Amino acid sequence: MSVLANEPARLLSNEPVGPRLHIMELESPHVAKTILPGQFVHMRVNQMADHILRRPFSVYRCDPEAGRIAILYQVVGYGTDYMAELSPDANPAIELVGPVGRPWGARMGGELADAGRVLLVAGGVGAAPLYLLAEQLAARGANVDVVMGAQTESALVTLSDYRDRLGIGVECATDDGTYGERGFCTGLAKNRMVAGCVADGSPYDLVCCCGPEPLMRIVSDMAAQAGIPCQVSMERRMACGVGACLSCVVDTVGGKRRACVDGPVFDADEVVW
Ligand SMILES: Cc1cc2nc3c(=O)[nH]c(=O)nc-3n(C[C@H](O)[C@H](O)[C@H](O)COP(=O)(O)OP(=O)(O)OC[C@H]3O[C@@H](n4cnc5c(N)ncnc54)[C@H](O)[C@@H]3O)c2cc1C
Ligand code: FES
Repeated sequence: MSVLANEPARLLSNEPVGPRLHIMELESPHVAKTILPGQFVHMRVNQMADHILRRPFSVYRCDPEAGRIAILYQVVGYGTDYMAELSPDANPAIELVGPVGRPWGARMGGELADAGRVLLVAGGVGAAPLYLLAEQLAARGANVDVVMGAQTESALVTLSDYRDRLGIGVECATDDGTYGERGFCTGLAKNRMVAGCVADGSPYDLVCCCGPEPLMRIVSDMAAQAGIPCQVSMERRMACGVGACLSCVVDTVGGKRRACVDGPVFDADEVVW
């Protein structure tokens, strides 16, 4: 089990990579050595006016030996706008609490470890928290397929990492049709779950999905209909990140659960959508 720590993190790079999208690389040895796919870090930038409030981010790439992590983030408001202006030259004071939360597979009693064929469905920056999972699954020889959706081609910033670094097959859909299928990626996901997996006689053992909530709800329904276990990573605004403030609750069949400590990964069939 990974041990939660609060560690100062050195900013190594912070580059724009797509529309309102940036990748930040940080030296953060504890997180890099201990993070599990699906867990996240709670980031504080001490110069920010509301520096008491941390922001949660998934770890996208991780190099445990070098003690480095990368975060892919979308600029949506005050905090991420401030982050996008940070330069390594200014040596900003950044602290990360992490690793936080339950990883992919944690609730499944080992099913993830046993999964031989896995479908990952990513919407927008939801491709970030699935990358470490894809890397881990590919490293132990699992058969991984990825369906990825984005608004436009230039927002598919993780595509080359999945395809070229991991050698994983990725099917894409863009809202404006500039790459792959035009429209949402739900059609591709359905084809994979229903037609794709039956065609060669080996159904998926697991579907993991991260993206906008409507996408996760639809994928969760499709997986249920296809009889495939499904996990989703729920995004909530988070204040404390340690289970104390209840700002991040998710309605589940078992009652209200805190996304920060009981999640962010949940079994899709326990979420009340
Ligand atoms: C476990 C977890 C992992 C995440 N991983 C990533 C990641 O890898 N990359 C990434 O780009 N983002 C990620 N997010 C979302 C990210 O935390 C928010 O976008 C960020 O906190 C926004 O901060 P802000 O100050 O810029 O936005 P604000 O100015 O506070 O808000 C701007 C807008 O964003 C919405 N918003 C703010 N925080 C959240 C949130 N936590 N969830 C949903 N909507 C929010 C607000 O309602 C508002 O509409 C993750 C969230 C969680 C809970
Ligand atoms: S963020 Fe406070 S309980 Fe989850």
